[in-house]
Amino acid sequence: MYLSHISFEQFRCYVRQELDLPPAGIRLAGENASGKTSLIEGVQLLSMMKSARAGAERDLINWNSNQEFGLPPYARVKGTVEDAPHLNTIEITLSVDPNRSTHARKQIKLDDQPKRAIDAVGRLKTVLFEPEDMDLVLGSPSVRRRYLDVAISTLDSTYLRLLSQYNKILEQRNSLLKSLRDQSPVNRRTRVGELDYWDQELINRAAYIVAARLQFIARAEHPLDDAFRSLLGEEYALRMEYEQSTRLNDGATEGPADAADTIELQRTVSNRLESEIEQRRDEELSRGVTAVGPHRDDLKLLLDERELESFGSRGQQRLAVVSVKLAEIAIIRQVTGETAVLLLDDVLSELDAVRRERLLARISGLGGQVVVTATDASLLDLDQLQDLPLFNVQSGHLIPAGQ
Ligand SMILES: Nc1ncnc2c1ncn2[C@@H]1O[C@H](COP(=O)(O)OP(=O)(O)OP(=O)(O)O)[C@@H](O)[C@H]1O
Ligand SMILES: [Mg+2]
Repeated sequence: MYLSHISFEQFRCYVRQELDLPPAGIRLAGENASGKTSLIEGVQLLSMMKSARAGAERDLINWNSNQEFGLPPYARVKGTVEDAPHLNTIEITLSVDPNRSTHARKQIKLDDQPKRAIDAVGRLKTVLFEPEDMDLVLGSPSVRRRYLDVAISTLDSTYLRLLSQYNKILEQRNSLLKSLRDQSPVNRRTRVGELDYWDQELINRAAYIVAARLQFIARAEHPLDDAFRSLLGEEYALRMEYEQSTRLNDGATEGPADAADTIELQRTVSNRLESEIEQRRDEELSRGVTAVGPHRDDLKLLLDERELESFGSRGQQRLAVVSVKLAEIAIIRQVTGETAVLLLDDVLSELDAVRRERLLARISGLGGQVVVTATDASLLDLDQLQDLPLFNVQSGHLIPAGQ
């Protein structure tokens, strides 16, 4: 599977741009603020239906869009995905509601048919690696949960659907807990039974979410370790561990990688959550929030069994993040048989020459499509990248190198 064409209209700094991409990918060189990340963002948008960096979707629309015509501003990104013998198009249009100019309406089409985001996510599979991904090691648990959520959603639309239900149920349950907290003891006692319903709703989704995360981490174990050793050196071991917010330790084993055990795993998670929620009823009632569940869990990265965040060097942390992304590609391939498009935004300059070579050797070994950017073309002038057409990016224009 690869992206064979992408077109932009009024997207960020690209007023109008067409681009053909060969199956192996392209190289983009351009100064700061030329439009490299915007292009990567456009590709990633076609994959996830959402930008990983934009706070508001309105921001994706070119600032000057339609100003001269007095029409509402809009942006459009359209991609052609080839997966022989299939050829599909994905189109996303954002338009500003003239009555609410801070807001953008999103319309998604697959092969010219309108679709909901949830039905279009992951048609084009991408794995993005950018400098900000260091937050996976250094940032807060919410960054790591989000990483897991995005990675798993690409593979499993049920996960995405249940996660969105979970978040809504969580909100309802929290507001019920808050309202119970603020009631008189007598009222609280009569109404506390209302929680049972929300407990079950919550646990049903939580069990699926946690089991899927455990399964993802189990699947990542081997490819992660393999990638890390091959990039850094044989003597290092890297591992991910899922840290649950449940305090109960019933010694249950977790994370079987094969699907047959999934139901069993969900049952274990569900039982554990149920007892924990029961035990922590008073605490939840006095705090007015849901204390356990996947919204409180974390993902730990361990380098030789020590926390990477505290003990890893900057380079080790960076290579660990690269390894996580390479493992993600391996999992996508294992589950779907497809090789995701790898988006490498501005990351080569941060690795030493040896690691850069090793990373690129590994990437070419994958045989997938790569979109790689750098501020300096010399960083892209490497043997493994020679076959990828080079474009110079200049204020929202792509100019083929040599022209
Ligand atoms: N909605 C928008 N409309 C027009 N221009 C925008 C919009 N959003 C961002 N820009 C501008 O687009 C330009 C390109 O940004 P982009 O992040 O793609 O640059 P970059 O090439 O990745 O730069 P860097 O090397 O600094 O990361 C910037 O000048 C930015 O301010
Ligand atoms: Mg950039």
